[in-house]
Amino acid sequence: MPDPGQIESELGVPIPGVILPPEQWAKTALKKLPSEGPLDGQAIFGRSAPIVLDVGCGNGRFVLASALRRPHMNHVGLDILPVVIRYATRRANQRGLHHVRFAVCGGHEFLERYAAPRSIHEIHVYHPQPYGQTQKQERRLVTPGFLALVHRSLVPDGLLVIQTDNPAYWQYMAATVPRFFEFHEQKGPWPDAPEGRTRREIMARRMGLPVFRGWGRPRPGLDEARLQALVAELPLPTFDATRHRRARHRRRRKAD
Ligand SMILES: C[S@@+](CC[C@H](N)C(=O)[O-])C[C@H]1O[C@@H](n2cnc3c(N)ncnc32)[C@H](O)[C@@H]1O
Repeated sequence: MPDPGQIESELGVPIPGVILPPEQWAKTALKKLPSEGPLDGQAIFGRSAPIVLDVGCGNGRFVLASALRRPHMNHVGLDILPVVIRYATRRANQRGLHHVRFAVCGGHEFLERYAAPRSIHEIHVYHPQPYGQTQKQERRLVTPGFLALVHRSLVPDGLLVIQTDNPAYWQYMAATVPRFFEFHEQKGPWPDAPEGRTRREIMARRMGLPVFRGWGRPRPGLDEARLQALVAELPLPTFDATRHRRARHRRRRKAD
């Protein structure tokens, strides 16, 4: 049983918030998603408030920090891995974050099935897996189809935040995301989390990897037909995610 008042940390960086006495804990697991959507925010949270969605939330560090900083917004964290959702849920429960829910669900599937058009205020995607092996490329999250769903799900002045430490993935994002969003690169860490918004960002920086960050608002005038035309026109993410690693290795061998 954790001690109330305890501050936890991972990788030497405090996990946002403090553990509350058990009588103040919340229930943040969205255990069973219905077979059909869209989800009803009022029924899930017991209130109507703008929604922040973190796709591939891992252990939930960003969701915890954002929910603590912005109690007026409802937060949803999604991941396909049950074990990380268990960690995230436990931490949000112990911090009494009644305006947070975590679910085991794929990002594409969630937006397609459960998000009503123009219903979400912010969608965050931190360090989606680049999948180095060619056979796994088709699992990459950020595709034209996914970006079209993000565009459709966001309110007109909604926000997409996206970040990676894989140079080839960033190159793909920087070429594709601006077709759907008025996109800006964020130079340097986010001011609200100087040591990193997520576990992977903290780790990547420790490993000396570059971190690429960007944000954007939906391009106006992209109706469903135009979104589908972009999906048909734009390339899928078939880049070689290990290219930079092999180049670094060659440079090192040359220098030896
Ligand atoms: C590299 S981790 C990053 C986790 C976290 N965002 C961070 O920055 O620390 C990528 C996460 O995305 C999850 N993931 C992979 N494909 C996904 C998908 N289609 N939908 C939702 N989550 C996914 C993985 O299970 C993993 O937890």
